[in-house]
Amino acid sequence: MTARFFDLDALGLRLLEDSRNRAGTLRARGIVPCLALVEVGEDPQSATYVARKIEDCRKVGIEVRKVVLPASVTRSELLTQIQMLDTDVSVSGILVQLPLPSHLDENAVIQAISPHKDVDGLHPVNLLSLTTSEPTVIPCTVRGIDALLLQTGLALDGARVAILGRGKLVGLPASLLLSGQSRNTTVTILHRKSKNLGNILRNSDIIITASGSAHLVTPDMVRAGAVVIDVGMSWPEGMLCGDVHPDVSEVAGWMTPPDRSFGVMTRMMLLKTVLDLAEKKGT
Ligand code: GUN
Repeated sequence: MTARFFDLDALGLRLLEDSRNRAGTLRARGIVPCLALVEVGEDPQSATYVARKIEDCRKVGIEVRKVVLPASVTRSELLTQIQMLDTDVSVSGILVQLPLPSHLDENAVIQAISPHKDVDGLHPVNLLSLTTSEPTVIPCTVRGIDALLLQTGLALDGARVAILGRGKLVGLPASLLLSGQSRNTTVTILHRKSKNLGNILRNSDIIITASGSAHLVTPDMVRAGAVVIDVGMSWPEGMLCGDVHPDVSEVAGWMTPPDRSFGVMTRMMLLKTVLDLAEKKGT
């Protein structure tokens, strides 16, 4: 079997166009969608991610309010900034770029954002809603994964899903959404202490990887015809590597392109979520 590759670029362009139309419709109703982006410190990777998000917003007509704070910012100064954005009626959604410097408590920062302005979908109220039949805000990368699963036409009810990684941006929320009442799959979460990794992966209809371990998933671990979605990234020798070995394409049914960033999907879903929040505010 040779896998069909998800065409992330084509899908990304379609999503961009759709967001441009939605932003135009909102603006015609007098609602200006606006994303507040909070960046703390000078992590070069975070700065690149934030710059791309700003560029995407500009392309579709979403206003951006960028707040840059020094790495030495105190918890109370950061929470005050968030509070101001949270009560500002012109702001549709707030995103605090992660990771934060280690002296700041990420969970406290996430919880300072009201659930209805939480574009990341990481507030406990939004996370819990992922388990219900009506999720409120789906975290951007997970929303991208969900869109790809929909594209395969695979019936999700009862499907066996293995998720490699339990981080708060991808693995954890993906497990809540996919095992919840809206998607109804059976999820196994795997992490660095998990035993029988290969056996569990081989028994899965869907594999989602977000571990950052280069080429950890090899063809012998994958069931023929499985759907394999790789959002992991690492740079072992300066080159971008996914978690999935390229040869997995010889056995999988559907697969993300090997050693490629999933970023375009995450970024396009961010636009979609900002527009969702702006639309909800306007109704
Ligand atoms: N850092 C890397 N990805 C993300 C994301 O999706 N949201 C936030 N807030 N920070 C990130």
